[in-house]
Amino acid sequence: MQLGDTLNISIDDIAQGGDGVGRMDDGRVVFVPRCLPGERVEGKITEIRDNFLRCELVDILEPSPVRREPECPHFSECGGCQFWHTDYQQELDFKTGAAMEALRRISAIEEWPEPTIVEAPETTRYRTRATFHRRPRDGDDGRGIGFFAPGTNRLVEVEDCPITRESVCRARRDVEDGLQDLGDVDIMVESASEDASVITIRVDELPGEPPEPLVDFASRLGDIDSIRGLRIVGGDRVWEEGDCTVDGDQILAELPIESLRMPAGLFRQSNRAANERLVEVVAESVQQGGGGTVLELFSGAGNLSFAMVDEADALLGFEVDERAVELANTIAMFAGIDTWMFREADLADGFHEALKPEEHGIFDQIVMDPARGGAPDVSREIASLQQEVSPDRITYVSCDPPALGRDLAVMAEGGWKPVGLTMLDMFPRTAHLEVVAVLERSAE
Ligand SMILES: C[S@@+](CC[C@H](N)C(=O)[O-])C[C@H]1O[C@@H](n2cnc3c(N)ncnc32)[C@H](O)[C@@H]1O
Repeated sequence: MQLGDTLNISIDDIAQGGDGVGRMDDGRVVFVPRCLPGERVEGKITEIRDNFLRCELVDILEPSPVRREPECPHFSECGGCQFWHTDYQQELDFKTGAAMEALRRISAIEEWPEPTIVEAPETTRYRTRATFHRRPRDGDDGRGIGFFAPGTNRLVEVEDCPITRESVCRARRDVEDGLQDLGDVDIMVESASEDASVITIRVDELPGEPPEPLVDFASRLGDIDSIRGLRIVGGDRVWEEGDCTVDGDQILAELPIESLRMPAGLFRQSNRAANERLVEVVAESVQQGGGGTVLELFSGAGNLSFAMVDEADALLGFEVDERAVELANTIAMFAGIDTWMFREADLADGFHEALKPEEHGIFDQIVMDPARGGAPDVSREIASLQQEVSPDRITYVSCDPPALGRDLAVMAEGGWKPVGLTMLDMFPRTAHLEVVAVLERSAE
């Protein structure tokens, strides 16, 4: 058996990540994208490992009764989505089942509470931020704009992405003219209001002024309704034209002050309606934990923090992005929330500084929401905290169930156990799922 060979395979399950799973006669697992349990498919081998193979889908030989015609014309090529080939309820069952399996297997924790499943309020046009790539087109000398094919840097040209807000797709189309003289660039489009976006173009270096056609394009922004501002970021230099601020409600689920404008380029949850549910779940958990003082790790610009103002007495947030920290402190100050404070800290090596009891007292609860890779060092420190300085409860928000499973395996060594679990779909049609795990520490 070698790369490029084709296999006929029966699909039994869906794996974390969205691929269909089959099994070879020799026991090896086979992953095939865009297929469903119960299907027989033909796949072409693209990767061979000791205990698994990966295939690309060549043909569906026996389709599942729950297979649907994809509503997105790019689904067969684009790496952005994994679930246009079945209806939403099926997708949710597959995703939550795969996430639960990954959590159990990776954490090796046997006892789990029944998960609460929160479906997405909208399954299309929900995404308020998308990063498009400008790359050479296959078969001609020009460049196009779109997303990548799965696992490659091969361009799939996309003008209109059905999970992305129409206004964001419009801004992507409108900026195309200004990019004619640029090479390979990444174009992040984020909604700044219901109708307009701010565009950030990432280049390798920005030695002087941006290229003339782009400066010319930027000078015409006043006539282009879909684009509020244009930023070019190269290394640590930023060039901005137009209004590069974003309405606060595009980033924060709860606005402590009205008419808030925030700088573009900050982290944001890219599904606003689902984000409102997420912050409710977190605030409810903090309330059920008795409120008190909260240590928030990876606090961003305060999306979770400002949603738990009524549930806790005081909050100290730690975050690496200096701009987000400054902004969160300014918001707290103007809103008169004087027991909410944010500090800049790199938590990559843990958070011992954050937990000095002599400086901050002992926190009642931790809320944490790390980036996709999870928080291995923080988890190790949490596991080794002496009981007398340890918070009683952790509300852990994760956008990657395998990373959460790894961190919980570590925390379990320190006696932390899951007592609550919510799976919240912030990313319909993709294999991604947001998980909120609530942990408590057993007394022994
Ligand atoms: C998933 S976001 C969550 C932010 C916030 N909870 C929200 O809902 O907007 C993760 C945050 O972790 C921050 N971050 C990433 N690496 C970090 C590190 N090493 N130390 C501290 N913060 C970090 C990012 O800047 C980002 O704001």
